[in-house]
Amino acid sequence: MYRKTVPDVARPRAFWRAKILDNHSADLVEFGAHTHVLVTGGAGFVGSALVDILLARNCSVTVIDDLSNGSLRNLPAGDPRLKIRTFRVGDQAFNAAVHNEVGQADAVFHLASPIGVQRAHKERFAVTSGILESGCAIVEACQFHRRPILYTSSSEVYGSGRDRPITESDPVMTDIRPRWGYAAAKAAVEHLVAGMFFDFGIPTWIVRPFNMAGPRQRAATGLVLPVFVDAALRGEPLVVHDDGEQRRAFLHVADAAEGLLLVMQSRSLRGRPVNLGGSEAVQIGNLARMVVEATKTNAPIVMKPSNSIYGERFAVTYDRVPDTNLLTTTTGWRPVRSTRQTIVDCIEHMRTERVMA
Ligand SMILES: NC(=O)c1ccc[n+]([C@@H]2O[C@H](COP(=O)([O-])OP(=O)(O)OC[C@H]3O[C@@H](n4cnc5c(N)ncnc54)[C@H](O)[C@@H]3O)[C@@H](O)[C@H]2O)c1
Repeated sequence: MYRKTVPDVARPRAFWRAKILDNHSADLVEFGAHTHVLVTGGAGFVGSALVDILLARNCSVTVIDDLSNGSLRNLPAGDPRLKIRTFRVGDQAFNAAVHNEVGQADAVFHLASPIGVQRAHKERFAVTSGILESGCAIVEACQFHRRPILYTSSSEVYGSGRDRPITESDPVMTDIRPRWGYAAAKAAVEHLVAGMFFDFGIPTWIVRPFNMAGPRQRAATGLVLPVFVDAALRGEPLVVHDDGEQRRAFLHVADAAEGLLLVMQSRSLRGRPVNLGGSEAVQIGNLARMVVEATKTNAPIVMKPSNSIYGERFAVTYDRVPDTNLLTTTTGWRPVRSTRQTIVDCIEHMRTERVMA
């Protein structure tokens, strides 16, 4: 079970830093008023939801985000406990600033990354190098300052999918097709992060998120739920790839952020990959129908072969549904928001954005 933070104003920050680093006997480390957390990619979709939770637990937070896909509107900019720095992690000109911020933090969440299958397929070099450069910069700083780090990898490392729920011991499967540059880079940084723990004793955690969705996710990233919602709200066709029978499990971003925090509070999850994802498997064709129904529009649904959109070298993914038993049995975490709720929250956010635009 998750334990609530018990603030103790008498203790200096060094005590809490040592508590997180050594994590002596308790299985769960507390996050509270004495914890200063660095979130890279904190202006993004998941990062900003994580920042919301950390602030609600009275942590102070520094966000580093280059705003390549994030937005300052996702953050409570006036909150005195929040510091926002807008530069690119991995840009050598800012390595000293990264070191400085890591040195001041008690714990680091590294979420900054180029994202999206479309972008991975079309811009292999930029995506692969972006993950490696930012990953190396943050790992180097965390290693130097011996700071605990949670790294968000991706379920993309599992490759084209399986006909059963995927566990952490399933192999990392990539080949030379462009899409897998993202996965291979994520997997390489996983090894650095695992090596920090097993070779140097620095607490690290690796999370492999599956499809996350909900408020603040942008259609421009090409991710399926916001793309469907955007199309439905415009009354344009929802384009379902291939036969539409491929299955995914969508996790509400608020459940995802809770999961990230719980992982980093678990001693026994250090140094090993942990799946994070939804529990309801949905066929993409059905997801399109659910979106049309929830938006109460008459937007048409059309089917297209993914190769006709991306070209012959596109790596198609079939079912990709997580087995999250490791996370649940270790921390008690479970998704509490349904796929329908996730769709409704996504629609509401995108409707609000359209009104404000
Ligand atoms: N959304 C999903 O379904 C999903 C699935 C698997 C893995 N992930 C991983 O989870 C993390 C968060 O994803 P998200 O959906 O919130 O994406 P996002 O694009 O909304 O958030 C990433 C943020 O990082 C920033 N960023 C990118 N590169 C940067 C750099 N070098 N320096 C500073 N800032 C940088 C972007 O501006 C953005 O705000 C990513 O690491 C992603 O690979 C997401």
